[in-house]
Amino acid sequence: MRIGLLTGGGDCPGLNAVMRAVVRKGERTYGDTFLGFHDGWRGVIDADAEELGVEAMRGTLPRGGSIIGSSRTNPFKEPGGPEAVAATLARFEVDALIAIGGDDTLGVADRLHATGVRVVGVPKTIDNDLSATEVTFGFDTAVQIATDAIDRLHTTAQSHHRVLVVEVMGRHAGHIATHAGLAGGAAMILIPEIPYDVTAVCDALVARRALGNFASIVVVAEGAKPAEGSEVLVSDEVDQFGHVRLGGVADQLAHQIEARTGFETRSVVLGHVQRGGSPTAYDRVLATRFGIGAIDAVHDGAFGSMVALRADQIVRVPLAEAVGEPKLVDPALYNGVAEVFFGG
Ligand code: F6P
Repeated sequence: MRIGLLTGGGDCPGLNAVMRAVVRKGERTYGDTFLGFHDGWRGVIDADAEELGVEAMRGTLPRGGSIIGSSRTNPFKEPGGPEAVAATLARFEVDALIAIGGDDTLGVADRLHATGVRVVGVPKTIDNDLSATEVTFGFDTAVQIATDAIDRLHTTAQSHHRVLVVEVMGRHAGHIATHAGLAGGAAMILIPEIPYDVTAVCDALVARRALGNFASIVVVAEGAKPAEGSEVLVSDEVDQFGHVRLGGVADQLAHQIEARTGFETRSVVLGHVQRGGSPTAYDRVLATRFGIGAIDAVHDGAFGSMVALRADQIVRVPLAEAVGEPKLVDPALYNGVAEVFFGG
């Protein structure tokens, strides 16, 4: 078969590992050839692609980003987009597509599948907010990067007896914040799922200092908001999928904490560092398993499905299911485990 590959949405570590696995099994076991479309759906619309093979993928297992590029282009928001996609697939004689992305990219895949495009999805996002899979690749790496950063921030916070407010990504889900906060020993974790009360945050920090702990790390998810307020935005412009740009909550919170407690407070935004660099071993293995699962799904004719991890098995679920309700933080983890360590 002639198979097209694309990576869409925000990049994350492990994209190349998926493609390497797809291409290895496709070429060696099934005799497939591959086209990598540049910059997600943009490359399909513009017929912009390169040949991919086992040799081209060598050395890419540990490499972050996507060697074919990524974008947030939505064909359904581009004039003549779906028709251009169909024309490109016909022109390049593409038998099937493997779309690697989050809910936006896979939502497009689902809509195109309804128009007859033969497509299989692979779930990707550092946010880990897809409900159809227990884990997305990229998440473990982002959590590790954030945890390493928090470890470093502890030592400087201790030297200066400061509060450090660390902002992590995750959009409207608090998975990165909860996991990195737990792993990094945060005194407080604030997530979008549970609007926070600034007074309660300050009270906990004051109580902690009364116990002799003069340094505190507060981890805040970029999408966290106060009970009486809204998310903090970098800009209210929306992308082609309707997303605003979140950012700035740590700075806002740091000022409030300092003003109310008198404790010297600084903010740190980890930002895109969380998406960069080499995937962890866990993400390399998960991405490789997803890649093998995707090429097998193509050859089984399981179009309109997405590979997913459930009970440590790679399974196939309908794309429609993959792009349904977002997966949010489990209260059993946040309230039952993380909260035990808040404050003192
Ligand atoms: O969805 C992944 C993600 O990194 C989010 O956590 C974050 O809000 C967003 O993408 C940032 O997007 P951009 O790369 O467009 O700044």
